[in-house]
Amino acid sequence: MSPSTYSIVLLPGDGVGTEVTQEAVTVLNLAAGLANFALEYEELPVGGAAIDLHKDPLPDSVLERCLAANAVMLGAVGGPRWDHLTGAMRPESGLLKLRKALGAFANLRPVAVPDSLADASPLRADAVRGTDLLVVRELTGGIYFGEPKGREPAENGGERAYNTMVYSTEEIDRVARVAFEWTGKRRRKITSVDKANVLVVSQLWRDVVQQLHQAEFSDLELQHMYVDNAAMQLVLNPRQFDVIVTGNLFGDILSDAAATLGGSLGLLPSASVGGPVGLFEPVHGSAPDIAGQGKANPVAAILSAGMMLDYLGETDAAAAIRHGVESALDAGARTADLCREGHRRVSTTEMGSEIRRGITEYFNRHRTAN
Ligand code: IPM
Ligand code: MN
Repeated sequence: MSPSTYSIVLLPGDGVGTEVTQEAVTVLNLAAGLANFALEYEELPVGGAAIDLHKDPLPDSVLERCLAANAVMLGAVGGPRWDHLTGAMRPESGLLKLRKALGAFANLRPVAVPDSLADASPLRADAVRGTDLLVVRELTGGIYFGEPKGREPAENGGERAYNTMVYSTEEIDRVARVAFEWTGKRRRKITSVDKANVLVVSQLWRDVVQQLHQAEFSDLELQHMYVDNAAMQLVLNPRQFDVIVTGNLFGDILSDAAATLGGSLGLLPSASVGGPVGLFEPVHGSAPDIAGQGKANPVAAILSAGMMLDYLGETDAAAAIRHGVESALDAGARTADLCREGHRRVSTTEMGSEIRRGITEYFNRHRTAN
């Protein structure tokens, strides 16, 4: 049988997005070669890069190629050069439009703190050690997309501006279902985060999650938590969480908070699924202050590539990537964001090659074992 070939659209975007995507591709190529499948890439502009070239943060031609691919890998978008732009011309609008067009309503953001990183956390090592949680963030609805939204002159001077936080039963049900399914594969505990003591939209959220739980997932442990408390609990005792399911805005905020438990946002990968084509991107932004200096941490992008391989069914290569990252961190390799006394400070590309060493090691072990 000839090896499978997957077509991947690469959207490196802006700032450190290009550097970390490049490292992820090098890692993917090694893993694919060792696991005997092939990846074909098409690299296209998005965000600021696409604004410069096409005056559009997500040109139709780019979106079309994304919809025809097996998966899309994105780096990061945005930067000071495009900060003066507004509305649909902002780099971020390109990303939001892409998520929506791909139908990627469920955003999976796993946060695990390996032992080797417990000491890099801003929190006490004993408070974070063993953290292993998954944020399932609703990604194509809520206040990010709700209408009406606008900014207009106010009657008595100044302006007024508004967004709308809106969810339908269907939107809540489908993302909750994805979250329950993951919970069943993990430690069987799920926390639904809302603001039901104040927001009507959260009261619907809570009802729909509750009903789905009773109807189809009552063997899983479900708790509801207000978002302000959840922010505090994430810092006080992150180990209490297994799966967290929440709306678009709360998920955006809580996942950044959760990411720093392991010491750096540069570690956190994500997968956005639910539509015909999956989207894989690091949670961190374009970090313009360190772009082009070889300082960026490629781990989040590389782990996102690993999530993409799981999604494509290449689970062995995905496991090899996770092992590669663990092995590089265990060996003390640290990019600037994570570097403390006693560590070896490495560049973006050096971190990539440390990870590739770990991947080769994984396949060597498995071959000897078989
Ligand atoms: C993220 C980012 C994006 C978001 C921005 C860049 C639009 O912060 O992926 O978390 O808010 O979703
Ligand atoms: Mn964010």
